[in-house]
Amino acid sequence: MLVSFFRITGIALLLAAIVPVLPLTGFGQYPRHRKINIAHRGASAYAPEHTLAAYRLAIEQGADYVEPDLQLTKDGVLVCLHDATLERTTDVRQVYPDRGRVEMVNGHLRTVWPVVEFTLEEIKRLDAGTWFSAQYAGERIPTLQEMLDAVRGKAGIYPEMKHPARYAALGLDMPRSLVEVLKNNGLDRPGADPRTPVIIQSFDADSLRRLRRLGCQLPLVFLVDDEAPGNWISPAGMRRIRRFAVGVAPSKRIVAKTPEVVRWARAAGLSVTLYTFKSGDTGNFPDVTAEMEHFLYKLGVDAVFTNHPDRFPREQPPELW
Ligand code: G3P
Ligand code: CA
Repeated sequence: MLVSFFRITGIALLLAAIVPVLPLTGFGQYPRHRKINIAHRGASAYAPEHTLAAYRLAIEQGADYVEPDLQLTKDGVLVCLHDATLERTTDVRQVYPDRGRVEMVNGHLRTVWPVVEFTLEEIKRLDAGTWFSAQYAGERIPTLQEMLDAVRGKAGIYPEMKHPARYAALGLDMPRSLVEVLKNNGLDRPGADPRTPVIIQSFDADSLRRLRRLGCQLPLVFLVDDEAPGNWISPAGMRRIRRFAVGVAPSKRIVAKTPEVVRWARAAGLSVTLYTFKSGDTGNFPDVTAEMEHFLYKLGVDAVFTNHPDRFPREQPPELW
């Protein structure tokens, strides 16, 4: 009796140790046949970020995937916007001068117009293009549905759930909303539309775990910030990420400082995607293409988010052979 107790307990302990590092079979995998060019907020170096104009230009420039950051409106609609507030990239100050609220942001008092305090109809009155250039006057904040309609069949989509915990505290379930939109479009399964693969990313591990609990089998990628890397940047950290994601996406600064991350991620079975490559932030590299070449072909990462999809180096340059 005692022997069989120890045998069963031993097997249970062994399983508990092994199961978390088993490959996530059945879930969509990260594409590995070539390096991946992800248009960060669309072709955002050339057109106002997160507008249909920026997404269309990204496709023209050869992006493999287009990235929408996602926020939720007061009436629960997913819209494409990086910030949780509207004032940086729209004319909300002029259109709704009395709807701003004063908040402490990074130690400073600022007036902000949170997306979640506006209905979709109200948000659609805002101009999201003029701040960038008069040429784009009249561009609107797109819904995720409008983004999908513009991109489908032409590129993949790589949505990022922004601030899912903040929305959950307000009773809005961002992972569920995302799954519903994808399902309505027949894009909720790996391989559903080979011309429009979907990969979901977030800085919030719990939101990715929640997607799995909701039955989402799409490839999930976990973002790691260089200013708040938590305890993920280690061989053990990579193995923990593999329990809920198929890829890790650290800031490029993390990999510049600790290039071993790529090896640790590979050993754990994770793909590696880096953010963000843009002119004016290329460190010692002469230009953004040279910087992407270094990380893609010298350090061996799989994919990059870039504001310049037209500058993506498809081939390994001879000097890095
Ligand atoms: O999602 C990758 C990268 O876009 C993360 O940074 O702030 O541009 O969303 P952010
Ligand atoms: Ca993003």
